[in-house]
Amino acid sequence: MYGNISIVDQAIGKKNAQEDPEKLAAFQAKIDRGEKIEPHDWMPADYRRQLIRMIEQHAHSEIIGALPEGTWITRAPGFKRKMALMAKVQDEVGHAQLLYNAAETLGKPREEMINDLLTGKSKYSNVFNYPAKTWADTAVIAWLIDAAAIINQVTNSKGSYAPYCRALERICQEESFHLKYGYDNVVTLATGTPTQRAMVQEALNRWWRPIMHFFGPPDIASVHSEILTRWKVKMASNDDMRQQFFNQYVPKIWELGLTVPDPELRKDEVTGKWSYGDPDWDEFKRVINGDGPCNKERLAVRRMAEINGEWVRNALKKPTAKYTVPLS
Ligand code: COA
Repeated sequence: MYGNISIVDQAIGKKNAQEDPEKLAAFQAKIDRGEKIEPHDWMPADYRRQLIRMIEQHAHSEIIGALPEGTWITRAPGFKRKMALMAKVQDEVGHAQLLYNAAETLGKPREEMINDLLTGKSKYSNVFNYPAKTWADTAVIAWLIDAAAIINQVTNSKGSYAPYCRALERICQEESFHLKYGYDNVVTLATGTPTQRAMVQEALNRWWRPIMHFFGPPDIASVHSEILTRWKVKMASNDDMRQQFFNQYVPKIWELGLTVPDPELRKDEVTGKWSYGDPDWDEFKRVINGDGPCNKERLAVRRMAEINGEWVRNALKKPTAKYTVPLS
């Protein structure tokens, strides 16, 4: 802090200083009244830039997020589970579609977004850079990662940018179904044979730390929270969402007789706040900056999909032309 103005306030102040002060004040007043912003409305350049960054990262997360579970479609136990998993993976890709559409309303072409994903310029969620080693991993992903995503998305669907809110509302309806599917698979394993029980516990142990990272760095280290909160893009802080996750899901995990791999996790009954052990924020930074266990593999698969799908995109643009379909 310098005097009573924070460094973030000064940075925002500098950027906003280039905007028309009257327009800026009217924009903030509109946000404060809880009104929505539509694509044709005036908005500060930094509001646009922040939204593109966040929605684009979210879209990339959905499309890359289809990969760890997608690898299990052929190995899902039984026909019904295969069908359900296939439908879920298709939903996730559809979510990317909705989100790319929302980001495009802000002026960034989809080709540029995809290019930024493939060249590593844009980020996507940390959690999708870990392998789904067993069938139980897919159950934990569908239950707890989708639960974490729902907490984030239901909260932010009340935000200020209308196209993003509309996409989030629709996504959350499908995610709620995924969560039930994931919970059903976890319950089946947790109430199954000792081997199945051990398998789901091991998967939970593997995914706990990435799920802690999913909500973003602690508030004190969050770069964008302050301005995004002021502009009602982020409707709760990273730490608040993590606390909400503990409140809703830790009791459910314990109820199934499963444990959480964090000996320091406990709720203070007076404050209602959970305290937890350091989930290794250095690992988080490494993973989101490209050095996680599966980052290279995930982007390589996306690049391959991009190359293999080129003739489809071209055919959609020019249906009468002749195309060569790649053999692989
Ligand atoms: N995975 C990857 N990167 C993450 C992350 C995560 N779980 N959490 C934070 N980051 C990145 C941020 O993108 C930012 O990097 P950048 O400046 O290069 O863009 C940096 O870490 C600092 O974090 P913070 O200032 O807290 O970012 P934020 O205010 O944007 O909050 C989210 C992070 C994820 C909470 C927020 O972007 C969000 O709600 N996104 C939409 C939902 C979403 O993408 N969900 C994932 C798939 S379901």
